[in-house]
Amino acid sequence: MGVRGRPTPQIPQPPDAHPQFRDRLPDDYRHPDANPYVAEHRAFGPELLTADQAWRFRGRWGECFGRDAPLHVEIGSGNGFFLAELARRSPQLNVLGIEIRYKRTVLCGRKLREVGAVNARVARYHAAFLDDLFLPGSLAALYVNHPDPWPKERHEKNRLISRWFLTDVASLLQPGGVMRLKSDHEPNIDRAIALIDHVPGGGPTDPLPLEVIGRSDDVNTGDAPWPDDIETNYQRKFKRRGLPVFAVELRRS
Ligand SMILES: C[S@@+](CC[C@H](N)C(=O)[O-])C[C@H]1O[C@@H](n2cnc3c(N)ncnc32)[C@H](O)[C@@H]1O
Repeated sequence: MGVRGRPTPQIPQPPDAHPQFRDRLPDDYRHPDANPYVAEHRAFGPELLTADQAWRFRGRWGECFGRDAPLHVEIGSGNGFFLAELARRSPQLNVLGIEIRYKRTVLCGRKLREVGAVNARVARYHAAFLDDLFLPGSLAALYVNHPDPWPKERHEKNRLISRWFLTDVASLLQPGGVMRLKSDHEPNIDRAIALIDHVPGGGPTDPLPLEVIGRSDDVNTGDAPWPDDIETNYQRKFKRRGLPVFAVELRRS
């Protein structure tokens, strides 16, 4: 992919290989039994896709869901509270969670199963390699809820809200499609807005085809930039502590 700052795959790839992100095989682990969720995520069932199953649906997600419908994707879906509720409120959508941690994909899969969310799936995948999974212009909406903030400057390379990520977002959203970002860490919101037409560090560059269409300094006061905000697990924790949750909505122009 060769984009500055984008994480490199954890598992060595042949030079022209696609996809960039792969499931680890038992031989890749020094202690294969250390995480019971690795095996459970493989055997889980239709609600949960392993990385190796997920990229095969690139360009044909309708087959995964058994029907064609607008595709809404949540990055970092955690335990699946938001995803399950989005699926319940919007039966006309296909909704897909992308989550990197084995345990959380399993917890999310269990949540989807518990509520009978037939229009929802969760895939174990790395958000740095979304173009393995989706064709350009194929997403109707993308949600990023409380991405890990990595506030220290020396951890900049770990941040999801980056120029390479927004470049992917601009490419993968269909015209008019939206990205909705919520964060307890206000700099994430400012950074997302600044990176539309600046490179990391501040210099101006070619603007990405994204426009800011709404912003909030506290979604928990009922002031979300979109109607019918769905509370996430982390959002609830910050709300209980009386802390604000910031938000911005970007539209693919
Ligand atoms: C702070 S938690 C927020 C969980 C949930 N979105 C919420 O609001 O309650 C961040 C989530 O993103 C996941 N995550 C972190 N980096 C990721 C990546 N590169 N690709 C996919 N998921 C990632 C974490 O495993 C974790 O579940």
